[in-house]
Amino acid sequence: MRTAIWGATGYTGSELVRYLLRHPRAELALLVSESSAGAKFSDVFPGFRGVADLELAPPSELERVEVEVVFCCRAHTEAMEVVPRLLERGIRVVDLSADFRLHSGREYERWYGVRHTAEELLREAVYGLPELYRGQIQGARLVANPGCYPTAAALSIAPLLEEGLADPEGIVIDAKSGVSGAGRKLSLRTHFVEVYGDISPYNPGRTHRHTGEMEQELSKLAGRPVRVTFVPHLMPIDRGILSVAYMRLAEDVSTEELLGIYEKRYAREPFVRVVEGLPHTKNVWGTNFCDVSVRRVEGTDRAVAFAAMDNLGKGASGQAVQNMNLMFGMEETLGLR
Ligand SMILES: NC(=O)c1ccc[n+]([C@@H]2O[C@H](COP(=O)([O-])OP(=O)(O)OC[C@H]3O[C@@H](n4cnc5c(N)ncnc54)[C@H](OP(=O)(O)O)[C@@H]3O)[C@@H](O)[C@H]2O)c1
Repeated sequence: MRTAIWGATGYTGSELVRYLLRHPRAELALLVSESSAGAKFSDVFPGFRGVADLELAPPSELERVEVEVVFCCRAHTEAMEVVPRLLERGIRVVDLSADFRLHSGREYERWYGVRHTAEELLREAVYGLPELYRGQIQGARLVANPGCYPTAAALSIAPLLEEGLADPEGIVIDAKSGVSGAGRKLSLRTHFVEVYGDISPYNPGRTHRHTGEMEQELSKLAGRPVRVTFVPHLMPIDRGILSVAYMRLAEDVSTEELLGIYEKRYAREPFVRVVEGLPHTKNVWGTNFCDVSVRRVEGTDRAVAFAAMDNLGKGASGQAVQNMNLMFGMEETLGLR
């Protein structure tokens, strides 16, 4: 399986290199980088010296390369320009940006402020959350790898919405992310001194772009339009997401019953673990696991659902490899455990 990574020197791109190096069926055929073309991958990331010394190729190489799959790890708006040509050449794509996650060009423009230039592909692109769309991902040409916050939110709430146990009105999602979620590009906001010793909310209400994606997926689960109150926070850790969803229960169920429903729902899922205690980001660091749990808030009609995962693992590159495995009919867990 010849693979290419476009945007190999970003956080998701370099994490993909780590996953694909230990994948028994994948070959790193091409690493493309605009900022570091000509250098070796291990010059940019010395930890890979002797392990991944490939020379980084310029983006023009994407036009020529013969590979079976390209992972797009660049910013949104870039993939929609390049992906149509890759597909025409018979190359399959896992796009880690937001370009193909929303199902309509109008929604894309609403959240990303630019017109979609490959709208016809939005109908074909499969939302790459295997726990919900495994059948459609198998054999797909184009998979839109989900955003990190929407992955955590969907996996934590899905069993309740699927069973009709949660009231879809008034769901609150309070989530926290490590700094790598903001990417490797330099910005004052992510400087050590700004972040260390601090926790702060950002883009509250319906202003964070992941809100649209969350609402799209939760609406499908609920079978009716869902609006959420989503407040993300930046945490002083390198990687990890902790998502806590608050919602009203539609029926009188105990914590034990809720946990039983989660156990049953995820019993055959290789990367979702219903944990006995409460999820911790440390327990999923560097992995493709998403740890979930749920509690009834005693004396109220409310439930709290938790998810912890690595934003670069199940929130990005690990999930991208899981999707590649499914797209090509391989064992879903290859290279991930
Ligand atoms: N970070 C996450 O947790 C996460 C999770 C899910 C989805 N995503 C999405 O995945 C895509 C890639 O995200 P990312 O976090 O990998 O972004 P990133 O670290 O900011 O990298 C984006 C691109 O910028 C270039 N780059 C790397 N270091 C740079 C530097 N110091 N200065 C200038 N350019 C640099 C790289 O491209 P070249 O090698 O071509 O120069 C890289 O592919 C985005 O669309 C993002 O929204 C990210």
